[in-house]
Amino acid sequence: MADRILVFYGSYRSDRAGIRLADYIVKTLKNRGADAELIDAKAVGLPMLDRMYKEYPEGEAPAPMEALAVKIREADGFIFVTGEYNWGMQPGLKNLTDHFLEEWFWRPAGIVSYSAGRLGGAHANLAWHGTLAEMGMVVISSTVAVGQIANTLD
Ligand SMILES: Cc1cc2nc3c(=O)[nH]c(=O)nc-3n(C[C@H](O)[C@H](O)[C@H](O)COP(=O)(O)O)c2cc1C
Repeated sequence: MADRILVFYGSYRSDRAGIRLADYIVKTLKNRGADAELIDAKAVGLPMLDRMYKEYPEGEAPAPMEALAVKIREADGFIFVTGEYNWGMQPGLKNLTDHFLEEWFWRPAGIVSYSAGRLGGAHANLAWHGTLAEMGMVVISSTVAVGQIANTLD
């Protein structure tokens, strides 16, 4: 059976560039036989964190949150495509991930970072490593860092 991999991306900007990298990752995983799906935090549209998923009584979480919880639970692994704002994480993706905890547990996660500059989002890449580990994921040591994102993919 093909590995079910969720690819998370979280820029909310109108002119966002990282979506091309996220699409490229999904396409590459599919070409390698994985059952990959893009989870675009902006499209999912969770509110700023109020209640975590687990704080809702069973069956009462908003529909997009419930649907995403099911997808996360059923996935074999995760890729986080992470841009960098002021040496830190993009808030849209962090907000999405914070809604869940146990749903993430014990699956491998890879980080693909990017930025406008030459460092490829290295600061955000490092920050995500600790956060994903705190949320119970096993962060793989292999990583990808893409610099000059605006000129890198069409
Ligand atoms: C608020 C803000 C802060 C940024 N801070 C950094 C930064 O610290 N390091 C960096 O390399 N690029 C930084 N950039 C440039 C981003 O890497 C570039 O705009 C990138 O395309 C953002 O990802 P997105 O287009 O998917 O939203 C920043 C951009 C914004 C909008």
